[in-house]
Amino acid sequence: MKTKNTLVTQPHMPSLSEFIPLLADIWENRWLTNNGKYHQEFEKRLAEFLGVPYVVLFSNGTLALIAALQCLRIKGEVITTPYSFVATTHALSWNGIKPVFVDVDPVYGNLDPRKIEQAITPNTTAILPVHVYGNPCEVEAIEKIADTYGLKVIYDAAHAFNVKKEESSILNFGDLSILSFHATKVFNTIEGGAVICHDSKTKQRLDYLKNFGIADETTVVASGINAKMNELQAAYGLLQLKDFDIVIEKRKALTLQYKEGLRKLEGVNFLNEGDNVAYNYAYFPIFIDEKKCGFNRDDVMEVLKKENIFARRYFYPLISEFPLYRGLAKEAELKIAYKVSREVICLPLYPDLSKEIVKLIIAKIKQLHRVNSVKLMSVEEIDK
Ligand SMILES: Cc1ncc(COP(=O)(O)O)c(C=O)c1O
Repeated sequence: MKTKNTLVTQPHMPSLSEFIPLLADIWENRWLTNNGKYHQEFEKRLAEFLGVPYVVLFSNGTLALIAALQCLRIKGEVITTPYSFVATTHALSWNGIKPVFVDVDPVYGNLDPRKIEQAITPNTTAILPVHVYGNPCEVEAIEKIADTYGLKVIYDAAHAFNVKKEESSILNFGDLSILSFHATKVFNTIEGGAVICHDSKTKQRLDYLKNFGIADETTVVASGINAKMNELQAAYGLLQLKDFDIVIEKRKALTLQYKEGLRKLEGVNFLNEGDNVAYNYAYFPIFIDEKKCGFNRDDVMEVLKKENIFARRYFYPLISEFPLYRGLAKEAELKIAYKVSREVICLPLYPDLSKEIVKLIIAKIKQLHRVNSVKLMSVEEIDK
């Protein structure tokens, strides 16, 4: 069966007929940005929906992260993970902060708290972990280290929209968390992002920072930037909230279909759900152990490409491998991150993905597995 292109993701969009009246209202009022009524409503509704004290909307997740670091006046060195999207580290360098890469844990690929302490120096001011694929970091262990050494913790929660641990939002951990509402994310406002904070004073400072540092007509209190979300995106976001539960249901069903289909293949691994975690099913990464499978993740990618299915190697290469950050860490210090980034491939996952395509993807991987198991067996025969 030849298919039309299937990409790793496809954005969910709100109903156009529901969006048009909101657009008509915006046209009528001519209030397009600068804390308009949709912006205010969306901030309020998001905080209620996510179960967090304050949401500060931004034009994207990267600027949210840059502003979060500014907000806490982070300087010097920050401990972070190399296994993420490059914006995590870019936000540090835009603030003149030195990223210190620490290895990830072998279970979820998140920053490994057991390796943080040895990387702390007198210049360390903060920890910037990422809830990769929406899997919660070991937040209690990270908090303990941060408390012991007087460090701030800022979570890059770009993947973790509405993820909960023991029924509380994962976004409530750390000093600040940031979200991305980019079109590829589980919840999108086309472009967009937010900082989650715990008190009104911090919200106020973030509000200044995203609007040039302007406090009133004649007062500028910080060297802020322009990172405001506009009214069209906020209105779109309000509608997206209505659909979120159904979006997650669909993502969950497809995830279960993948897991069921791939579970018996030795060497094809996927992430198990942690205890008491409510997931958002943002991604479906699988990890191919080449020694056990006789093929690697690039082979999976090629096999799927022949069917016009485009899986993605999130995250490869590691951020620390890009020329601009090379030299900050040695491969030997990031063994797990290297291994994971060489084994991972994210399979397509989005609410409107058909069960038939998932079935085809499973069948193709199974076929690759079967062919290579025969080859592996014959090599073992020869070895005997
Ligand atoms: C982990 C991570 N951090 C930060 C970002 C940046 O978010 P944005 O694209 O909204 O700027 C992304 C995604 O794009 C991401 O995946």
